Amino acid sequence: MNAYIMATGSYLPDRVLTNFDLEQMVDTSDEWIVQRTGVRERHIASKDELTSDLAYKAADDALNKIGMSPSEIELIIVATVFPDKLLPSTALFVQDKLGATNAFCFDINAACSGFMYSLGVANAYIKSGIVKNALVIGSEEMSKVIDWTDRTTCVIFGDGAACAILGATEDEQRGILSIRLGSDGSYHHLMHIPALGSAEPCSEEAIRKKDIYVKMRGNETFKLAVRYLVNVSKETLADVGMGFEDVDWFIPHQANVRIMEGFARRIGVPVEKVIMTIDRHGNTAGASIPLALDDAVESGRVKRGDIVVLNSFGASLTWSASVIRW
Ligand code: ACO
Repeated sequence: MNAYIMATGSYLPDRVLTNFDLEQMVDTSDEWIVQRTGVRERHIASKDELTSDLAYKAADDALNKIGMSPSEIELIIVATVFPDKLLPSTALFVQDKLGATNAFCFDINAACSGFMYSLGVANAYIKSGIVKNALVIGSEEMSKVIDWTDRTTCVIFGDGAACAILGATEDEQRGILSIRLGSDGSYHHLMHIPALGSAEPCSEEAIRKKDIYVKMRGNETFKLAVRYLVNVSKETLADVGMGFEDVDWFIPHQANVRIMEGFARRIGVPVEKVIMTIDRHGNTAGASIPLALDDAVESGRVKRGDIVVLNSFGASLTWSASVIRW
């Protein structure tokens, strides 16, 4: 059995925050943000809109596209950095909102690789015959976990959710042909939230020190990103006897336009083969790859039979790639 993507779906909150809006909030400029990151605008969830609400709406979009009932879903995985609550998992709230009563559900935290890790887990469940389908969602509200006075992080991130519904096929030439996941925990200091966990439970002191927000060593992460994206993509393609020249579309984690351009340059493919939505979405962490994938499918760029490589790196440090025949 192979797992293949039956449908994709997405949801972006209504509110759009432009670089010009950010100029009014921190010492930055549209020019700096566009040149250094590629972001022009990002969507921001409202106070009342939860990570599970975004995820639910993305799932609803995908289910409607193929006329699938929520009761048919057997597994729901939500990838998120900032869940509704630490307990229980956001996937359970999504299950409840959908009425997907026959699914078992859990969250995965692999930061910007979260969707890819979820895809890897769902792929294994389907290939082993444990489930016939899975709903894999990346849903992020980075806006609620960044320090809006820190210009080194607040200009990059955005909110949104997107998903893929995976099904099983006996056609071994279709769907997820290979997938690799990797991690190196020794880089944990590159991006983290100091408080809100057992290391530093929430306290007035943690709030005062702004330890409840993302701390990122952006430049150090940046330097590792291209190398990891290239290596894992090469290995994952080699697993199925392919090279970069066989790929129709690359859909990397939308971290920074310079990282994606650097990736294309390093592997010698035209940048037009790299799907980019960072200008409109910002870096939406675990939601960025499925958001870009849904955009590419809906715009008619990714077509049946195309070879698509999804690849990611994230905090701190996780990486992955998957070769998919659409
Ligand atoms: N506006 C204006 N100037 C700024 C801003 C800003 N918003 N932010 C930083 N600067 C300044 C810095 O202060 C610095 O000034 P200095 O030279 O006077 O000290 C200068 O710009 C350069 O700063 P760098 O940090 O070297 O800038 P860089 O080119 O690396 O860009 C960025 C920063 C955009 C964060 C980049 O490093 C990046 O995209 N990193 C990768 C982030 C990432 O992928 N994280 C992991 C994935 S996300 C996840 O897992 C959830």
